[in-house]
Amino acid sequence: MNKIRLGVNIDHVATVRNARGEIYPGPLRAALLAQKFGADSITIHLREDRRHINDLDLKQIKSKLKIPLNLEIAATSEMLKIALKRKPLYICIVPEKRQEITTEGGLNLKHKKNFLKKMIKKLKKNNSRISLFIEPSIKDIKESKLLDADCVEIHTGKFCNLVNQNKNYKSELKKIKKSVIYGNKLGLEVHAGHGLTFQSARILSKVKGIKEFNIGHFLIGESIFYGLEKTIKKFSKIIR
Ligand code: PXP
Repeated sequence: MNKIRLGVNIDHVATVRNARGEIYPGPLRAALLAQKFGADSITIHLREDRRHINDLDLKQIKSKLKIPLNLEIAATSEMLKIALKRKPLYICIVPEKRQEITTEGGLNLKHKKNFLKKMIKKLKKNNSRISLFIEPSIKDIKESKLLDADCVEIHTGKFCNLVNQNKNYKSELKKIKKSVIYGNKLGLEVHAGHGLTFQSARILSKVKGIKEFNIGHFLIGESIFYGLEKTIKKFSKIIR
């Protein structure tokens, strides 16, 4: 059986830590637990403004993790330099806007095309697998192949929003399916990510040809509820 890989994005463990300027909860601890409990890879996004994951997190996670680290970075000289130094096994190049709350859409592959091409070439030479985070579009799949990416990750945000709002998601699902088929036809490994919940991941897991899911916000949020019972019981025992 061709197993779908699960990449666990732990950015929001760092978001919680940074909200109080504390040293806990630690992303490294989360990464090692995710590894222990069956994650196939760990995803972290080192943003230009370091709003969640920071450079030390990247260094520590990279040195301790046994499963592949998937580093998400924007197409900038600073990030290229960091990625060349840290040599994560997987890299996903993502768009980044300072003011956005989260990665709002796929890459604009025409913008900074020459830089992207050079960046991909250097990172591949450095033995990283390169993925491009794109919209579910035939044009972007074609362009990704021309840029010599190994993989594409389809931005599933629109689809997931429709599922969450109980709206008709058929045409968005169709776009994703077509993109997966075309990506596979061109020899690209196809991944999916952004906004995935139990419900939307279940639907997309039925789409043949998606090899990897990268899931963060919902997974970390849901983990709060899975962990409350144990944590409250432990505190009760400590103080009573
Ligand atoms: N994949 C990519 C490329 C991302 O940038 C992100 C975070 O925006 C995710 C997956 C995970 O998305 P989410 O946190 O919504 O699950």
